Amino acid sequence: MKELLMQKAIEARKMAYAPYSQFMVGAAVLGIDGKIYTGCNIENASYGMTVCAERTAIFKMVSEGCLKFKALAVAGGGKEDSAPCLACRQVMTEFCESFDVPVYCNGPDGVIFEHTIKEICPYPFVSFEKSTV
Ligand code: THU
Repeated sequence: MKELLMQKAIEARKMAYAPYSQFMVGAAVLGIDGKIYTGCNIENASYGMTVCAERTAIFKMVSEGCLKFKALAVAGGGKEDSAPCLACRQVMTEFCESFDVPVYCNGPDGVIFEHTIKEICPYPFVSFEKSTV
């Protein structure tokens, strides 16, 4: 599944709309419904309106009625490990099936780094409605 999900993220990267940064990113999430949802980064002339590939994929999943994912892959276009931004990590904590869910990040020469949500999302924000205090 790791390889397939990364392949889908790499494929989704082709659709990236990144005329300002030229940095193309693709992502893929495996929903608990068994379906794979993909996304790319979508930039805007008003730079702050840009949406990352990970959030595009997660939001597509949610908008199609699946509220949890059990794995996520992200394929960045750089030479470094494509670590997800902190805004995307916060969104991941909302929609991951558990904090043991794997996050696959592509690196140079086809290497796939593997982390868990727990490792990359310590101490996330939780709303008062959801908290127990
Ligand atoms: N980007 C992503 O798509 N995912 C990340 O986790 C980090 C950054 C995008 C946003 C922007 O379009 C470009 O990469 C450069 O920051």
